[in-house]
Amino acid sequence: MAWEIPAGGPKTTGEAFAYIGKLAKGATIDDLKILALVEAVGQKLYEDIASRAQHPEVKKALLANGREELGHAHRVSKAIEILTGEPFPIPEIGENPLFTGINPMPVTKAAFEGLVKGELSGGNLYDGIASGFDNPEVVALLKQNGKEEVQHGQRVQQIIDLL
Ligand SMILES: [Fe+2]
Ligand SMILES: [Fe+2]
Repeated sequence: MAWEIPAGGPKTTGEAFAYIGKLAKGATIDDLKILALVEAVGQKLYEDIASRAQHPEVKKALLANGREELGHAHRVSKAIEILTGEPFPIPEIGENPLFTGINPMPVTKAAFEGLVKGELSGGNLYDGIASGFDNPEVVALLKQNGKEEVQHGQRVQQIIDLL
């Protein structure tokens, strides 16, 4: 049976991204589950932007970020399994309860600057979440995600001039 979002949790993709933005002060296991699902949605969002980007280098960078977002979902899933002893499989996008559709992001410098900011803030977000856990393997998984979010921001920054 698919995991159900707890009462009071986000119900849409937009709400879910806003929700995880507030987890730097600490995350519960349910929060980690929401985070894992949001990361999986992240790949879909990058694929969507990439499908509308014209420049091959831009497309490539966006798809690379997207693949890593799915990797982040799997790392968070692994952290959940370490903490709870229960697997938390990442569903296909069509089964993801936090995927409620995409508000297409325009392929513009302004939109990409916003994306850079969001990705860069992911570094602090994951560091904050990691500081709430003691298990060294869990901490390492979360910090690796954070490091890659910063790289995502840098990667998008590098392609802005190609737009
Ligand atoms: Fe991510
Ligand atoms: Fe990212």
